[in-house]
Amino acid sequence: MTGASSGIGAATAELLSRQGWRVVLVARRADRLEQLARRLGEAVAVPADLTAADAPERVREAVGDGELGLLVNNAGAEWRLAFGEGGYDNVRRTMEVNFDAVVRLTEALLPTLRASAPSSIVNVSSVAGRVGRPKNGAYAASKFALAGWSESLGIEEEAHRVHVGVVLPGFISTEGFPHDRLRANARTRWVVSTPQKVAEAIVAAGPGGRREVYVPRFYGLVPKLRHLVPGLTRRTLGAGRI
Ligand SMILES: NC(=O)c1ccc[n+]([C@@H]2O[C@H](COP(=O)([O-])OP(=O)(O)OC[C@H]3O[C@@H](n4cnc5c(N)ncnc54)[C@H](OP(=O)(O)O)[C@@H]3O)[C@@H](O)[C@H]2O)c1
Repeated sequence: MTGASSGIGAATAELLSRQGWRVVLVARRADRLEQLARRLGEAVAVPADLTAADAPERVREAVGDGELGLLVNNAGAEWRLAFGEGGYDNVRRTMEVNFDAVVRLTEALLPTLRASAPSSIVNVSSVAGRVGRPKNGAYAASKFALAGWSESLGIEEEAHRVHVGVVLPGFISTEGFPHDRLRANARTRWVVSTPQKVAEAIVAAGPGGRREVYVPRFYGLVPKLRHLVPGLTRRTLGAGRI
């Protein structure tokens, strides 16, 4: 479980642990991971910056030669900058965390997942992996890339009985993505959901066998609207109302 030190990752680790999984917790903040591991009981903390060259191998060593039933690639970050402000540097650092690190960790663990089949990979993309908004081009690029790559990987790995699911959350209130403005306004509060809802979606997209889960479900309308009424969708997103 990557990104287990807060938000969606911590909530998912708790849910998986309650369901009887022995969870390997990965993120940079060791104190948070160790605290969570103690609370969960059987969990193992692996502090690592997933963009570091040796991170995939360190996680693979922690998993060992035993069974690996599920890999959840959830760690991610966003730096909200227009391309004119953040340029390629912002695109690169975002891709490094949200896409490259996922691909590298998956590569390191795929042999173990195949050997443990039937097993699953769940990649946490975003509704931003289906539609672009101002000031999130770098993030959207990384999440579009993740969704596309996951779709191909899922078809390829069918033969090896490694299921690949994609979870696409909308606005979820967490440390990294607080959505204070949306939550402060009574008219927009309803669009913001909780990490626990995403945790349930991750289970549905992994062991539950779903290929694609929007959470909350109504966010599945966003990519449909983008195709059906592109002008309206663009004006709504562009105006920064949501
Ligand atoms: N919240 C939303 O509205 C929303 C919507 C759509 C998608 N998502 C996606 O959901 C995932 C989880 O986000 P969240 O909302 O739960 O935010 P969060 O509370 O900020 O959690 C992000 C997690 O990623 C870890 N992380 C970040 N960079 C890392 C790195 N270089 N190496 C290792 N771990 C790293 C963080 O841990 P450390 O800081 O301890 O390393 C933290 O555990 C992300 O992929 C995000 O893009 C979130």
